[in-house]
Amino acid sequence: MEKKRVFLTRNLHDFALNDLKKQYKVEIHSGKIPIPRKTLSSKIKNIEGLICFPYDTIDKELIDNAKNLKVISTYSVGFDHIDIEHAKKRKIRVGYTPEVLTDATADLAFSLILDVMRRVSEGDRLIRRGKWNKIFGAYDYVGTDLQGKTLGILGLGRIGSAVAKRAKSFDMKIIYHNRKQVSKIKERSLGAKFVSFEKLIRESDVVSIHVPHNKETDKLFNKNIFQQMKKTSFLINTARGKIINEKDLIFALRNKIIAGAGLDVFEHEPISTSHPFTKFQNITLAPHIGSSTKETREKMAQIALNNLNLGIRGKRPQFSVGY
Ligand code: DGY
Repeated sequence: MEKKRVFLTRNLHDFALNDLKKQYKVEIHSGKIPIPRKTLSSKIKNIEGLICFPYDTIDKELIDNAKNLKVISTYSVGFDHIDIEHAKKRKIRVGYTPEVLTDATADLAFSLILDVMRRVSEGDRLIRRGKWNKIFGAYDYVGTDLQGKTLGILGLGRIGSAVAKRAKSFDMKIIYHNRKQVSKIKERSLGAKFVSFEKLIRESDVVSIHVPHNKETDKLFNKNIFQQMKKTSFLINTARGKIINEKDLIFALRNKIIAGAGLDVFEHEPISTSHPFTKFQNITLAPHIGSSTKETREKMAQIALNNLNLGIRGKRPQFSVGY
């Protein structure tokens, strides 16, 4: 029997590739990253299985081009780059990689909180630019205590909860907003209090975003929201860049409407050195590395592989979204 065809939009760990190659006819895109749409569109035509990444837009047109496709396995917890509804209509399975990246992403979110509040990266840049030319006194180069401050978590799902757990041990007050209030048991164990979105925005010293990007959250953080936040507050985003209106955030930072930001995700990635964000000392920037630890990335590869193996056989992936 002829081997089924699998396409990867970029390289993956050797153990995963070896496993794939034993079972399927495998092709891996090795050119420009992200893969140009035209290339992906032609490669997807005859394959049964696809392993893709958050930078690859798998929309209706592309899905319709893939007549034999049985499964889309994305190497990410986010799946806003895939038209899930259309995949479902076409009975194409979609697998994703939640759970294993929860702690790595929460660690990164918390490191951004610490970094902007204690001005660590800013200090690093200062030293590297040769600007540490006096011993700082009582009023100089002061940051903000975490202890006693209010952390507002938007989205108390897996990652949001893991961030709350970390904040609790820093003696922060935790409030959250979610589509649905979580159980009292969970609230008690995290020390988190449910509030309206408006209250979260108004009362938080730090707002950390942990919701998916979709129609409701697209550019949710805009001028109007920044104006309601405390002037001393920080915004942390490790979810998706499109949840923030970047132009409005630049306006808010320039006009000191909020105090700073820690960002791991951007509207268009990668950003360049000419991006306005790079001009602000009170923003810490990370190159979309929420899940990027050796251990986590290996676990994600194993799940992406499991999802593909199951989906290509018409079975429900280990972690499935949609059909
Ligand atoms: C994800 O998995 O969605 C993270 O953003 C890393 O890409």
